[in-house]
Order: sequence, then C-alpha cells, then structure tokens
Amino acid sequence: MNSKGNVIPSFSAGHSAAPVVPGTTVLDAVAAYGCIGLLRIFGYKVQQSTVVVYARRKQKMRKSILLALLAGAAIVLGPAIAEAQTVIKFSHVVANDTPKGKGALKFKELAEKYSNGKVTVEVYPNSTLYKDKEEIEALQLGSVQMLAPSTAKFAPLGAKEFEALDLPWLFRDDPTYANAMKGPVGKWLFQKLESKGILGLAYWDNGFHMTSASKPLINPADFQGLKIRISGSKIADRYFRDMGSIPQIMAFSEVYQALQTGVVDGCENTPSNYYTQKFYEVQKDITVSYHAHLQYAVIVNAKFWNGLPADVRSQVEKAMNEASDYTNSIAQKENEDSLADIKKSGRTTLHYLTDAQKVAWQNAMQPTYKWAKGRVGGEVLDLLAKELNVKMN
Ligand code: LMR
Repeated sequence: MNSKGNVIPSFSAGHSAAPVVPGTTVLDAVAAYGCIGLLRIFGYKVQQSTVVVYARRKQKMRKSILLALLAGAAIVLGPAIAEAQTVIKFSHVVANDTPKGKGALKFKELAEKYSNGKVTVEVYPNSTLYKDKEEIEALQLGSVQMLAPSTAKFAPLGAKEFEALDLPWLFRDDPTYANAMKGPVGKWLFQKLESKGILGLAYWDNGFHMTSASKPLINPADFQGLKIRISGSKIADRYFRDMGSIPQIMAFSEVYQALQTGVVDGCENTPSNYYTQKFYEVQKDITVSYHAHLQYAVIVNAKFWNGLPADVRSQVEKAMNEASDYTNSIAQKENEDSLADIKKSGRTTLHYLTDAQKVAWQNAMQPTYKWAKGRVGGEVLDLLAKELNVKMN
C-alpha cells in the first residue's frame, strides 16, 4: 500500500542503485530503471530482484517483437527484393492516338515484356505530367526518365544544333528524313547531348508541317502581320519572320485556346497534331504546305540509363529499337489518315499550293538558310548538306 492507498503486490523494498542485468541490453535496463524511478517518485518501494525480472521480461518481449517485424517484412518485401523494379516515367505532350503516342505505348508494351515485368513504363501523354519546358527540366532533374520532344525544343538543353532539322524544305519526304537521321548527322547531334547528362536513343518521325489561320494562306503576303504560334525553334521563328509574320513560342498544351481566343492568329503543325488537338476546329483555313519537318528525339537521363543493370538495359534497348521502327513505319499513314479526317469534318478548308506558289514560299523563306549558320553553326549544316546531297545556301 502506498501513501495514496494503492496496492502494488510485489514491490516492497527499495535499492538506490542496481547493476545492468547480464544478457539484457542497456536499453532494457534503462527502461526498467526508468519505470522504477517513476514508481519511487509516486511513493512505491521497489526491490532489486524485481528490476532483474522486469528487465529480462522486457528483453524477451523485445526479441519477439523484432522477430515478428522481420517475418512481416519478409512476407511483404520478399518478392520485391527478389525482383527489383525499374520504373520508367515517359512524359510527352501529344495525344495517345498519334505517331509519338502510339510509339510510347508500344515501347511500354515491349519493355515490360522483354524485361519479364522487371521494368514498368508509365506513359504520361497530353502534357498531363509536364508541359514542354518543364518536361526537359524534369528529365535533367531525374523526375522523369524518358521524353520524346520535338527537336525544335532542344535549345534550352544547350543543343541548338538540332534546330538545323527545322530548315524549310530540307527533307524531300519521310524516307529521306529517316535515312538522314540514321547517318553521321544523327549520331553527331546525339553527341551534343552527352555533356548535358542526356542520352539520345532514337529519332521518331511525325511528318511535315501544315500552316493555318482563319484566312487562306496562299501567297507569302498573306502572312503579313499574323501572330503565328511556334514550338521553340529559332529557325521556325526566322522563316515566319521572312514571311512577314510575328512568331510566338508557346507550349503545345496552350495552343488550342490561344487559337480559339485570338491570342495567336495561326500556327504550323502536322495533320495528326491538328486532328487530335482539334486545332482544325478553330482555324478556318489550313494550307497543306508541308514546308518543314517535325521530328522527335527519344532522350533519357544518362545517370538513370547508365545505372540500369546491363541485362535490363539491353532489354529496354531492344524494346526501344522495335518501338522506333514501329513509330517510323506508321507516321506517314497516321498523318494521311488525320488529314482525311480533317477534310471529312468539314470544319476547315484545306488549301494546296501550286508549284508556282510553293516556289514563292521557298524564295521568301530562303534567307533563313543564310541566317541559320550563325545560329546552329556550320558543322551540322555541312553534315546535312553531305547526307542529303544539297547545297545549304
Ligand atoms: C509542338 O509543340 O507543336 C509539337 O512539338 C508537339 C509534338 O510533340 O508533336
């Protein structure tokens, strides 16, 4: 019985100090003496033998708890430890139903299959994760592992040489573009990324740009004073200025609204992007000018890529090679189908240039070639000239 009348059956005599009980941890002893200290404060008397029993019980309890925790962790984490998971976040800005969108999903399917589920690819289309500029920053920071931006957007990466690919009427057709990128210029451009902590895995195709506004764009003079949205390339900026218009860089996800509200008057893009983003619904006239090419480079964070186990990396690489072949094989047809769908919608008028009108556009944009050297450097232009067997100015 204590001074407050409480009965503590086995605590009857007190000791001021007691040794740590052999076989128990210091923590057990501290816990035991801590409790005893408290009891003494409240007026209870506590024996040394009680401390020993208490500490031993506490030690047993600690051991059982530890064993139970380890067993639980083994059940939950066991399979995950045996099969370490690699997650590849693949962010992009276009719809799933486009060459790039389909390519990303094909890559997901193949990478997960070839790695027997060791790799999970999470595809985030339509700027759901990041817009154009943010996604590049996110890749450098490692918040996403893979992107496929249009090469027109590579200047913020410190690789403005890629903009050479945006020169007007540079590639005759899609096969010419595809062949060129397989040659030395494609590799040379990828080397430019290495010092930025980025690796280039593949080039993907998305056909040729059309041009639109809410008036027919037939002659260069029709561009005079129009605000035209561009995706980022200074080469595109230059050729629209050559035509007398005012180019404006804007994130892809903002284009529809900007066209609808008149923030910009027009834009350029490929049929698949016009169709899936519904740009054709807010532009009365589209000129099927096919004046410049839209290509993507699939890029990865180098630290992530080099850190993959060798077997996993080669499985992912195989998936990427096959997904790239697939994407490049469907790009042209996807764009033809989108153009047919736009035509069928009746929401916009399609215009086709005569040969003479096309020459007038080419002449108007010609100064861009001379200007380009100061922007992208002579080396990439020489490589392209050699590859394509053309003169650059
Ligand atoms: C654009 O911004 O217009 C394009 O780069 C979008 C894309 O990725 O096709």
